[in-house]
Amino acid sequence: MNVLITGANGQLGLELKTLGNKFPKFNLFCTNKSTLNILNFEEAEQYVLKNKIDAIVNCAAYTDVNKAEEEFELADEVNHLAVKNLGLIAKKHNIKLIHLSTDYVFDGNSKIPYSETDKTNPKNAYGISKLKGEKALLEINPKNSMIIRTSWLYSEFGNNFVKSMLKLSKERESISVIYDQIGSPTYAKDLATAILKIIPEITSEGIQIYHYANKGQCSWFDFASAIMKIAQQNCIILPITSAEFKTKVKRPKYSLLNTEKIEKEFNLKIPNWSAALKECVLKLKSPLAPEKPPSPRRGN
Ligand SMILES: NC(=O)c1ccc[n+]([C@@H]2O[C@H](COP(=O)([O-])OP(=O)(O)OC[C@H]3O[C@@H](n4cnc5c(N)ncnc54)[C@H](OP(=O)(O)O)[C@@H]3O)[C@@H](O)[C@H]2O)c1
Repeated sequence: MNVLITGANGQLGLELKTLGNKFPKFNLFCTNKSTLNILNFEEAEQYVLKNKIDAIVNCAAYTDVNKAEEEFELADEVNHLAVKNLGLIAKKHNIKLIHLSTDYVFDGNSKIPYSETDKTNPKNAYGISKLKGEKALLEINPKNSMIIRTSWLYSEFGNNFVKSMLKLSKERESISVIYDQIGSPTYAKDLATAILKIIPEITSEGIQIYHYANKGQCSWFDFASAIMKIAQQNCIILPITSAEFKTKVKRPKYSLLNTEKIEKEFNLKIPNWSAALKECVLKLKSPLAPEKPPSPRRGN
């Protein structure tokens, strides 16, 4: 099965690329901004036809939540217009499509985990651009396709909260971290494993939305404290409120995702966030931790 991974130099893309070796039935075509411009419909369509692509996993995204406030057009191009291109190509050529979205499509006013059918109401520009991408796909409605919303993604690759905390802990005696935003950290490796298991099993008349996050819940403060504990760093984590943390960007106070649908339909067992975090931090602390992304197995 030929699988196109877009945004393959990002956190999730690199986890998929690494795991690809364990799933020999897939021939992965790993692309990035410079090897495939998904903003260009014709270029993307030609690529898919030339390489006889059976499934697309769209990991490409504009993910800088702060900058998206000033660069909405750029965020909209990648998170909405390019997604629309992929949806149209998937529908026209009957290709499976897995698109990634975010918990930030919700406003965070819920007190119980969000399910796929709950009302969306993004609070920031990033969330708005991602929701526009979702809506475009729902309108095109390609069959054998899915939108997977995830939350608080981290990995041993790329830039993320875990790596920032580990770096800061070596430079500072204490770090102030928000305690009044609740969610679930998600290890990109677990999500990538789930995606590779799911691809052959997708059969749907139209596009479906699913939620995937590691099990359990925590605040950013709990998350940072757990990172320090696992890494055996003495740096003190100090709790602060969202109001005390000076930022122009609004984020949901509560964005826990209900993952029952994906677990049941695809028979997935999702690890708890703390066990997943331990695996990632120990890998990062290992002398064998990757300095550079792995080279692609096949495809580009
Ligand atoms: N990170 C999170 O906390 C989080 C939370 C919830 C949901 N998600 C969603 O999960 C998915 C994966 O996120 P991630 O953390 O792996 O993202 P990431 O590390 O930021 O990777 C995104 C990749 O997309 C690439 N990209 C940007 N514009 C592109 C374009 N026009 N064509 C091709 N590639 C392009 C980026 O390249 P450059 O770096 O060169 O721009 C980057 O390599 C995204 O859909 C994201 O919205 C992420």
